[in-house]
Parts: sequence; C-alpha cells; structure tokens
Amino acid sequence: MNLKVLEKQAQEEIYHIQSLKDLENWRVKYLGRKSELSLFFDSLKKLPLKQRKAKGSQANEIRLILTSLYQQKKKKLESQTTTYHFFDITRPGQKLSKGHLHPITLVLNEITRSFEKLGFEIILGPEIETEYYNFDALRIPDNHPARDMWDTFWLKSKIKNQKSKLLLRTHTSPMQIRYMEKHEPPFRIIVPGKCFRFEATDNHHEFQFHQIEGLMVDDNITLANFKFIIEEVIKDIFKNQVELRFRPSYFPFVSPGLEVDIKLKNKPKGQWLEIMGAGMVHPDLFETVKYPKNMWQGFAFGLGVERIAMIKYGINDIRLFFNPDIRFLEQF
Ligand code: FA5
Repeated sequence: MNLKVLEKQAQEEIYHIQSLKDLENWRVKYLGRKSELSLFFDSLKKLPLKQRKAKGSQANEIRLILTSLYQQKKKKLESQTTTYHFFDITRPGQKLSKGHLHPITLVLNEITRSFEKLGFEIILGPEIETEYYNFDALRIPDNHPARDMWDTFWLKSKIKNQKSKLLLRTHTSPMQIRYMEKHEPPFRIIVPGKCFRFEATDNHHEFQFHQIEGLMVDDNITLANFKFIIEEVIKDIFKNQVELRFRPSYFPFVSPGLEVDIKLKNKPKGQWLEIMGAGMVHPDLFETVKYPKNMWQGFAFGLGVERIAMIKYGINDIRLFFNPDIRFLEQF
C-alpha cells in the first residue's frame, strides 16, 4: 500500500465533508480498527525489525496527521452547529424592571417644586459645617443650654488656621448666615439637605434625616406671610387633606419662635406630628451679617422631610427609610 497516496486521498475527502455524520464515516474509514492504516500496522508484525521500524514510523506520522485533521474538522463542524439559535420573532418581549426614586427623594422634589411655584430659589449648603455657622452665629455659644437641643457629631480635624471646630451639621439653619453674608434682601430661598444628630433612634427620630430650611427677608414681612406660605405648600403637597397647628416654641435664632404640627383630616383621633421649627429672624442675626439696623424683617423655618413623607405615605416608623429592605422600597 502506498501511504502517501492514502494520506492525499484522506486529505481531499475530509476537505469536502460538511456534516458530523460524514466526518464519523471518514474517521472509521481512515483511522478505525479496520481501516487500511490499521491493517497496514498489523501487516508490519511479519516484517524484520529494521523494515518494521522504518515503515512503522512513516505510518505513525500519517496517523498523527490524520488524527489532527480529524480533530480540527470536528471542532469546526461542532461550532457551526451550536451557533445556530432558533429565534421566534412572534414571542412577547421580556419586561425590563425599571428603577425608581427613593420615597424621600420623591417628597423632597415635591416640596421644593411647591416652594418654587411661590418664587423661592433653591440653594445648597455644606453637610460638614463649622461650629461658628452651626451654633455661634445662630446665638448658641459654647456652654449655652440650647446646645443640648442638638446632639452633635463632632469631627476631629479642623480647617487650617481657623479656630472653629468641624461637625456634621445638626440642622440646615447655618445656611441662613452663609446666604445673608453674601446677599442683600429682598430674597426668598429654600435649602434642602441632610442633617445629622448623635441621638438614640426611635420611630420618629433618625440620626440622619433631611430638612428644608426656608428664609424670606424683605422690608415688610410678618408671621402672617409665614403662615400663608406654609399653608399653601402643605395644602399643595397633601391635596388639602391635612390640618395644621401653630404653637409657640423657642429657638435662639428667632423671635418669636414657633413649631408647626400636622394631622390627617380623615383621622380626627390620629396624633399630631411636629414637622418644623420656625419664627421671625432674630435682629442679632441681621447685625452679625452686617445689615443696616431696623431695615429688614424675615421669617425662617426648618421643615423635617421624613416626617412629611411619613404622613403622606402612612409610614409609622422613620427607620424604614434608611433600611435596605427592597420590599419597602419597591412600594414607591
Ligand atoms: C431645628 O432644627 C431648627 N433649625 C428649625 C428652625 C429653623 C427653627 C429656622 C427656627 C427657624 P428642630 O430640631 O425642631 O429645629 O428640627 C426641625 C424639624 O426637623 C423637626 O420638626 C422634625 O420634623 C425634624 N427633625 C428633627 N430631628 C429629627 C430626627 N432626629 N429625625 C427626623 N426628623 C427630625
């Protein structure tokens, strides 16, 4: 048998093969137990050792070449069959789940939009504050008992060349001073943002929460203006479904000071929930920012955003907002 002719014939045949079935037939024909090559190997046994070695190594070489051709072709044919996927064009598409905003973001957006309708500008301020803006400039000096109203996260580092200690702001009120230092009245602004207090949590208190500070300064402002604005915004957010209660209170940076509570109208026996502190800006603050004496009046307030969201969505525990429970969050 001519091994060279056999090799050439096998190569030509495998080149034209298009299916795995034909390839298997080829394998049986050229590499199988009864193939010409195998029979040739059997016949070698009868030859003397020297000839056996020479012919054997030639036949072995051809067997290796054919085996490698077989493996390459098999790989190629298999990859062609597996890349074929049936695609049913009539099948309904798969719905992609859509992301959504966090309930606090939804409420924040709604409240800020409401104030914008009444001409308020939105301003942002730093979450890391200095002791000066968070306390001293608001008439709460060190050792003043009013500091106890705000349990504070103090930071270890200081600003270079400055005496004032750093802290996580306990309220958005520092922005009253920061804004007035740089702007002349008349103006009306709101400052939405995060606040932090080192306090034990319960169903109405978190150690981080959002406030919206409000400040309106002009030359003829009274508490009546404050009352009107707040009633308009709350009516807008709750579609007229809540009652408001204004009661006197104390904050060192306003005079007089008050607090506002709300309650759902359809739950007459429900609890009043405190939503903000407010009052007329204390004249000392105008002096601190160097406004001329007795020229301006203004009101300020700090609204608790989580409390509004709790009433709006009927949530009885504030801690749910910062708990990563997807079953809670997916309801919004
Ligand atoms: C203040 O923070 C004052 N800066 C508000 C203010 C601004 C008064 C301007 C006068 C003029 P108070 O600590 O009461 O006040 O907080 C205001 C509102 O923030 C509360 O009514 C409440 O709705 C919300 N709030 C306060 N502490 C928490 C807390 N731990 N968790 C959730 N909401 C809170």
